[in-house]
Amino acid sequence: MNTQILKPTRLNYQKAANQIKQGNLIGMPTETVYGLAANALDYLAIERIFVAKNRPQDNPLIVHVSPEYDLRQLVTSITPLAQKLIQAFTPGPITLVLESKQTVSNRVSCGLNSIAIRIPNHPIAQEFLRACNLPIAAPSANLSTRMSATTAQSVKEELNGKLKYILDGGVCEIGVESTVVDVRGEVPIILRPGKITSEMIQKVAENVQDKSIVKEGEKVLSPGQKYKHYAPSCPVYLFQEKNIDACIEHYKNNTKKSVILCLEHQAKYFSNQNHRIIGKTIEDYAKNLYQSLREAEKEFFAIYLLSVPASGFGTALMNRLQKIAGNNQF
Ligand code: TXA
Ligand code: MG
Repeated sequence: MNTQILKPTRLNYQKAANQIKQGNLIGMPTETVYGLAANALDYLAIERIFVAKNRPQDNPLIVHVSPEYDLRQLVTSITPLAQKLIQAFTPGPITLVLESKQTVSNRVSCGLNSIAIRIPNHPIAQEFLRACNLPIAAPSANLSTRMSATTAQSVKEELNGKLKYILDGGVCEIGVESTVVDVRGEVPIILRPGKITSEMIQKVAENVQDKSIVKEGEKVLSPGQKYKHYAPSCPVYLFQEKNIDACIEHYKNNTKKSVILCLEHQAKYFSNQNHRIIGKTIEDYAKNLYQSLREAEKEFFAIYLLSVPASGFGTALMNRLQKIAGNNQF
């Protein structure tokens, strides 16, 4: 099977929805990253996601629905806290964890009694969800441990032959995955930082707890937290801007063909080092990060990245940069 990229026409939404109804997988754009979609009610279809991605068996999936969908079909109750965050941030780059009614396949949440729900704010995602008229489970459309895909072409390179169609939604606007928040109790618990920041949630909920960093010995609340993530095929080194001299020194001593990815204002540090400007702002950095890594891994044997201040949206970006670099942080 050769995977085809489809333009978002009425006919193509139908073609994609038919694939879903037959238990097959579809590449779906969202405002964060592309998703690998399947019918959340169909056990075998969900199993295909796990196989296609080589995803760990205990890492649950997010269920996507259109803004009109009645969430009470999926959850036992929409808590007052959930209500507030739905009102403030959906449709948008946020995923809410609630108590599951167990109407979707038990494979979706990997046996947990909760369910993660997202209402994407992307016109093509919404049209596709309406055409399916089903709850759609979709992890990011990449092989497990690899970075998410932010273009239809990257989904194709990553998963070619494992799905018939990818709906083309262009480049994803945000570039990092949604904020995951547990809203079952009275205080929102952030399990994965994203574009909807802790500060934004605090304003609406008056309180917030950040459990996206799991310290040694602590219980993992979201299985996705414990796995290697977002990594290209070559080593990545992450330097704080204040350690720029060490970065240049490391680069000089590295005999491999390497590249430094930096923001525009940081280019001044690099005169004789091969560097590429990834954008001007933290938003540009996030939007271009995965695609830049995908391009760089084809050409280079080591990639250098620079840290950003971990506040606001920078928290989400730093979370990804730290996972990408693993132990190579200076
Ligand atoms: O932006 C996004 O969220 C993208 C697009 C496609 O919507 N999706 C995405 O899915 O990033 P994935 O599978 O790569 O990440 C899902 C995260 C994982 O960390 C998983 O552990 C967590 O959500 N998760 C899913 N269900 C959960 C649950 N019931 N309780 C706690 N965490 C859950
Ligand atoms: Mg993922």
